[in-house]
Amino acid sequence: MDEYHPSALLRETVEFFHRLPKGARILDATLGHGGHAKALLDAGFTITGLDLDAQALAKTEKRLPKLETILGKHSDLPALLGERKFDGVLADLGIRLDQLEGDGMSFHSTEPPDMRLDPTTTETAIDLLLRLDKEGIKRLFCEGGVRAASLLSSRVDKNRDRLERMDCQDLARLLSEPGTHKRHPATRAFMALRRAVNDEEGELCALLAALPLLLNRGGIAVLIAWHQNEDLPVKRSFKRWERMGIGTILTPKPLRPTPSEIKENPRSRSARLRAIEWSPATAYPIQHKEIHT
Ligand SMILES: C[S@@+](CC[C@H](N)C(=O)[O-])C[C@H]1O[C@@H](n2cnc3c(N)ncnc32)[C@H](O)[C@@H]1O
Repeated sequence: MDEYHPSALLRETVEFFHRLPKGARILDATLGHGGHAKALLDAGFTITGLDLDAQALAKTEKRLPKLETILGKHSDLPALLGERKFDGVLADLGIRLDQLEGDGMSFHSTEPPDMRLDPTTTETAIDLLLRLDKEGIKRLFCEGGVRAASLLSSRVDKNRDRLERMDCQDLARLLSEPGTHKRHPATRAFMALRRAVNDEEGELCALLAALPLLLNRGGIAVLIAWHQNEDLPVKRSFKRWERMGIGTILTPKPLRPTPSEIKENPRSRSARLRAIEWSPATAYPIQHKEIHT
């Protein structure tokens, strides 16, 4: 695997921020290995990077010593940043390739299925499956777009006493959907589990709630989503803010990677970029409640 996560839609991301003056301060709320942050630093911006992954932060601090880094998650943003504001906010949602292929997450790993992005949280994927009843597991899979949600939840329920001894390979076999698939047959079920373990929906909601309070007037936000469940809340928030006169959507349709980017980085094919420009005239401070209801 490459040393650093391959960043998607890099050129397009930087282009949106070029609307800001040189030296403008940008928060990269999903710093990762800093691919986007490096391109933005090279373009003359000042970057603060946030990530919940302490190891990735340490690696990126070595790669980009000029960067200010903050360890934490989106739901901690108000506590971590207080009144601080930025001219731009970037979030490249989801997880890195090395996290996806890591010990507690990969279909091929012989480690226990942990799936936590933040090791300080308490519940692993197995803890979650053991805590939920059959209906709860079915709902989790349904919400994650798993077609065989009913079948898989029954299988989990019947194998409860084996769950704690399972490694990722065992769980991937248990959660494989029937039929032929281009990807691993347990892809949807693993993703649904990972999203639930890390409360990815709640974290995105927290980021969207914090955004209006983080951005200066005339600021730019760029969000990159990797699947429908991420893209829809972003699209809805942007539309609501535009209706309220808070911002102007810069991407009537989300930007997708070019065929040559997809050829070079096939995983980028799922990426969708949306950007919004904050109105120069918005009266601050706005209360969370006004923006997010
Ligand atoms: C797709 S990667 C970003 C990669 C980065 N743009 C780059 O070029 O290297 C998403 C990053 O967001 C982090 N992350 C995921 N959920 C988070 C959350 N709720 N709060 C903070 N960081 C999060 C992950 O640890 C991961 O490093």
